[in-house]
Amino acid sequence: MSEWLQCIGCERRFDASEVRYTCECGELLSVERDAMPDRAIFDARLASRKTIDKSGVWRFREAVLNVDENEIVTHPEGSTRLYERGGILFKHEGENPTGSFKDRGMTVAMTQAKRLSARAVACASTGNTSASLAAYAAQAGLRAIVFIPAGKVATGKLAQTLAYGATALHIRGDFDAAMQLVREASDRLAIYLVNSINPFRIEGQKTIVWELLQDLEWNAPDWIVVPAGNLGNTSAFGKALREAFDAGWITKMPRLASIQATGANPFYRSYVDAFAQRHRIAAETIASAIRIGDPVSHRKAVSAIQLTNGIVEQVTDDELMRAKREIDEMGIGCEPASATTLAGVKKLRAAGVMRDGERIVCVLTGHLLKDTDAIMRNVPPERMIEIDATMDAVVNALR
Ligand code: F0G
Repeated sequence: MSEWLQCIGCERRFDASEVRYTCECGELLSVERDAMPDRAIFDARLASRKTIDKSGVWRFREAVLNVDENEIVTHPEGSTRLYERGGILFKHEGENPTGSFKDRGMTVAMTQAKRLSARAVACASTGNTSASLAAYAAQAGLRAIVFIPAGKVATGKLAQTLAYGATALHIRGDFDAAMQLVREASDRLAIYLVNSINPFRIEGQKTIVWELLQDLEWNAPDWIVVPAGNLGNTSAFGKALREAFDAGWITKMPRLASIQATGANPFYRSYVDAFAQRHRIAAETIASAIRIGDPVSHRKAVSAIQLTNGIVEQVTDDELMRAKREIDEMGIGCEPASATTLAGVKKLRAAGVMRDGERIVCVLTGHLLKDTDAIMRNVPPERMIEIDATMDAVVNALR
């Protein structure tokens, strides 16, 4: 079985062992392969105790990366739970080793980094990619350098990134500026770039959808709902569905719904004018993970929406925080960006786009504890009461 890099624009091919993120023509690259396995081998691995079979990424390895088993850098990751609450399914990617879906792409990008003999890896990040990069680089024994927008990353994510041993460059600028800078720096300083512009990241993130389909015994749902920031996931989901459909793993194509925050909605704006143009904005939202104004995977994400007859929706910070509280109070919990999914479902149901009886899966991208500041700012006073250490005070407080 062979694999290569292919330009999504001019279709020019490059060797998979080349360090390259874009084509000569400037477009993004995608990993393509000439054969796909039968899905039965993935199901057989569910009973295995082998580490790479327990990984929800490497269980699908023939369709992820052609690599010797002993070269794989895996925690393992994936194999996350699917919850049903109130008729909606939630695939909780916050249950990955570093608390976000990023681990699925990172295990593949880090495996590739090792194969290419990289000595250092880098990314721009709103916090989750950096934490994931730092953890996997620690495991792989590579130097980790992260470019983060100064003062704009949730404290827990930054602490996590530093704890795993990364060097953090606090960029005076927003995520988009950090992204541009890390692209230039990785070219100039021969550092391997593992943002989702790296096509191997996308190969790992496809497995969110494949594992979800496997969870549903390969009966595709009607909708898969995902938060949209830099558009790596939207792109990966489109590719996962195209490949699953072409390989005959599923016989029905689910519709993708990508949800943005209104203050960080360049993809939504583009969708509204039928993708006639690409928008770049200065982004602002309480959901700091998706405070992104110039998503790098725009063009791949457009294809994903078109392929799946998908839609793009936007929700306000109020709507997403209300949805977050609902998800939290189901006993599941997620970070603010992840809650755009439920907020989007509510809006799309109200508009009649999503109908009663349709099977909907929301992908929760990050763990509740990733952004505790967002929680503490919103606790109702009657739920957090300071009292004297006396029984009277307890009785009074609970009256
Ligand atoms: N949800 C969470 C929790 C995220 O951290 C991100 C992206 C997204 C959704 C958006 O996904 O970029 O694939 O559209 N976080 C990146 C980071 C930007 O640096 O951690 P996307």
